[in-house]
Amino acid sequence: MELQRNLNRPKICTIEKVVDQTPTVRTLVFSDDILDSVLPGQFAMVWIPGINELPMSVMITQQDGKAAFTVRKHGPASTGLYNLEVGQKIGVRGPYGNSFDLRNGDLLLVGGGTGLVPLMRLLCHVKPSDNITFLIGAKTKEEVFFENLVEKLLENNSHQLIVCTDDGSYGQKGFVTDMVEKLVSEKRFDGVYACGPELMMYKTVKAAHSKGLFVQASLERMMKCGVGICGSCCMGEDLVCKDGTVFDGDRLLANEEFGHLFRNKAGILENY
Ligand SMILES: Cc1cc2nc3c(=O)[nH]c(=O)nc-3n(C[C@H](O)[C@H](O)[C@H](O)COP(=O)(O)OP(=O)(O)OC[C@H]3O[C@@H](n4cnc5c(N)ncnc54)[C@H](O)[C@@H]3O)c2cc1C
Ligand code: FES
Repeated sequence: MELQRNLNRPKICTIEKVVDQTPTVRTLVFSDDILDSVLPGQFAMVWIPGINELPMSVMITQQDGKAAFTVRKHGPASTGLYNLEVGQKIGVRGPYGNSFDLRNGDLLLVGGGTGLVPLMRLLCHVKPSDNITFLIGAKTKEEVFFENLVEKLLENNSHQLIVCTDDGSYGQKGFVTDMVEKLVSEKRFDGVYACGPELMMYKTVKAAHSKGLFVQASLERMMKCGVGICGSCCMGEDLVCKDGTVFDGDRLLANEEFGHLFRNKAGILENY
């Protein structure tokens, strides 16, 4: 472990391995013994030289001293990160943000897209006695990933993994949130955890909260500083980078912006 490393200054890391997850999602592995052991829900700010800096959840690697990012190519910055090859460099600062408050017993985890990343790390912290229901939501079969990894991480737990695709091309047909509503009405969970598209998290939090269940979600907002200075990540009174990114259901549902509004790059509120 490096001593006296200033976690707010980017550390230059070399990409060591690139793994394709889907035609648009890729995992980039590098060495870092601090990001290797972040808490589930924490993120890093990733500098893509010559392009920009992006917030990214820290992906597990199951190799000591290694960390990773799983990135979906979207706009210029994420595409720049996605296109990096083995041997190229990134700058990483952090970890930042809080983490999920892991309960024990019957747990329901709901993830979609790269929102699955913090949930993979959450799975590394469950106890063998926990019974896990893991839901993966995707638009189509082509966009489903981490299914085998979930099975591997849960090999010592009683569990069920349900994949839902909007078009029915794989697993159960329909929105993953319809499955959440069904499950929470049939069974009492000790904890519900969500990360993915905001509407998915909104419906999950509402469904779990309406049954009186403990529920948390990890939010995304536009981030620039990542450390509570610039205000670009505000959601009502909350700064997502510093007060979150993980929030309890009560607090989320009391926030009028959750599930409805976000701030664009100019800081102007837009509807989801
Ligand atoms: C805490 C957190 C964790 C994230 N983890 C992942 C992850 O594991 N994998 C992944 O693919 N994506 C993740 N994202 C989203 C990612 O940071 C990018 O925002 C997204 O990939 C869009 O990038 P872009 O190329 O379109 O940005 P560009 O259009 O190139 O713009 C880049 C700039 O806008 C900001 N920005 C743009 N969109 C967003 C957004 N939705 N959220 C925050 N900032 C934004 C960036 O900080 C940056 O300053 C995460 C976001 C947050 C807030
Ligand atoms: S990103 Fe600057 S305050 Fe949160």
